[in-house]
Amino acid sequence: MKSSAVIFASILGLVSASPSRFDKRSQPQGLDVSGWQGDVNWSQVKANGASFAMIKATESTDYINAYFAQQYNGAYNVGLIRGAYHFAHPGQSSGAAQADYFLAHGGGWSADGKTLPGMIDLEANGAQTCWGISASEMVSFIHDFGNTYHARTGRYPMIYCGASWWNECTGSNTGFAANYPLVLADWASSRGALPAGWSYETFWQYANSGKFPGDQDLFNGDEAGLKRMALGH
Ligand SMILES: *[C@@H]1O[C@H](CO)[C@@H](O)[C@H](O)[C@H]1NC(C)=O
Repeated sequence: MKSSAVIFASILGLVSASPSRFDKRSQPQGLDVSGWQGDVNWSQVKANGASFAMIKATESTDYINAYFAQQYNGAYNVGLIRGAYHFAHPGQSSGAAQADYFLAHGGGWSADGKTLPGMIDLEANGAQTCWGISASEMVSFIHDFGNTYHARTGRYPMIYCGASWWNECTGSNTGFAANYPLVLADWASSRGALPAGWSYETFWQYANSGKFPGDQDLFNGDEAGLKRMALGH
């Protein structure tokens, strides 16, 4: 996955491209949704041009998105590439326990060409940006989650974060970029700084509203690359 993604990005010149070089409309478009969006009209999402969707499955070890089945199966049924995500509560239980909970409630991966690897959503807990734990504890938590996910699925999870969150809460750790695809949170008209370690984003969440329900996302490549990302090639 890593090597093909890097080669693919190099072919397109994405690694050295300026953030605004590629027209957003030429890249596969998608969305991410959670329980807040309720039942989603997937036929409409597909008709509006979506290629992929990321769907919240779980939080911590005690919350399941009540709309997960409608959202995850509905996206698949209209032909979208879909993936599940876990909203992490770092420090409230181990990374392994949270990965196990995610995997038990929809977060798995299969090589059907329609399923993205799971994603860990890393962001502030309200005013408590880093969940009250140290950078080294945060790094250990993410490794524990990712290694558990990898042992069970053969894929490393994608990491969703903003650059400033990552740099503050992991101490600008550069040890994840080689294996963990980045889903960059950056609500802006052109892509800003990347978190420490990554030289490109795999997905970019560029707005929190738009033509699709939920957040608006772009894949950093073309449709064939998106399919390879799903397959892990
Ligand atoms: C979903 O969207 C389609 C296309 O816009 C529309 O025809 C259909 O009535 C919608 N379904 C529901 C249940 O709202």
